[in-house]
Amino acid sequence: MESRIKIAPSLLAADFGHLADEIRRVEAAGAEYLHLDVMDGSFVPNLSFGPGLIASLRPLTKLFFDVHLMIHDPMRYITEFSRAGADGITIHYESCENQKDCLRAIRGLGCRSGIAIKPATPAFVLEPLLDELDLILVMTVEPGFGGQKFMPNTMASVETVRHMLRAQNRSAEIEVDGGITCGNADIPASHGANVLVAGSSVFHADSIPDAIRSIRTAAENAYSD
Ligand code: DX5
Ligand code: ZN
Repeated sequence: MESRIKIAPSLLAADFGHLADEIRRVEAAGAEYLHLDVMDGSFVPNLSFGPGLIASLRPLTKLFFDVHLMIHDPMRYITEFSRAGADGITIHYESCENQKDCLRAIRGLGCRSGIAIKPATPAFVLEPLLDELDLILVMTVEPGFGGQKFMPNTMASVETVRHMLRAQNRSAEIEVDGGITCGNADIPASHGANVLVAGSSVFHADSIPDAIRSIRTAAENAYSD
């Protein structure tokens, strides 16, 4: 049976010297998405990788490429990320003024559209954008670095998103990102999150299949949409 929960290992925590092997491992372990964190050293105080790397990874896997853009003025780059093989492109609400145009442009490129909010951004700002959204990403840490601690107070935003979607009878995915482990995956799932990003808890685990399985089981048992 198809899982209601999708697991999105974040490549940021992988061994960059062996990316092809790391990707094969998470694909074989049943992950649905590969979460690709793009950072510009300005919107967030860290640098990661860009469309060139993503294009080289594209032939290696059938995994859904879930591209999380932590960059200023994302409109400038979405065409490049789509060409590189992104299946979904998530921009940050705080990174631009023209969110609606940008989300429409993402769909226009044939990608699924997503928007992310930082922990301090109130979720109600997304209400006028719901029409344009396939995915809403609630950050459960401050964006910029892997390996941080899950912030439980962000669950209020997950809850607000769930209510807004219900009120408008919409079915966008709700994704959470940051500090997710098998020990806390039940929390966002119980508030309605169905896509769980996990970096360190997957790639630094002794067994990647066990890690993915235990995150999924904890979330499945707690999920309420
Ligand atoms: C943080 C990134 C996350 C990060 C998650 O800015 O958006 O995707 O890689 O890593 P963990 O799961 O280690 O917190
Ligand atoms: Zn991310």
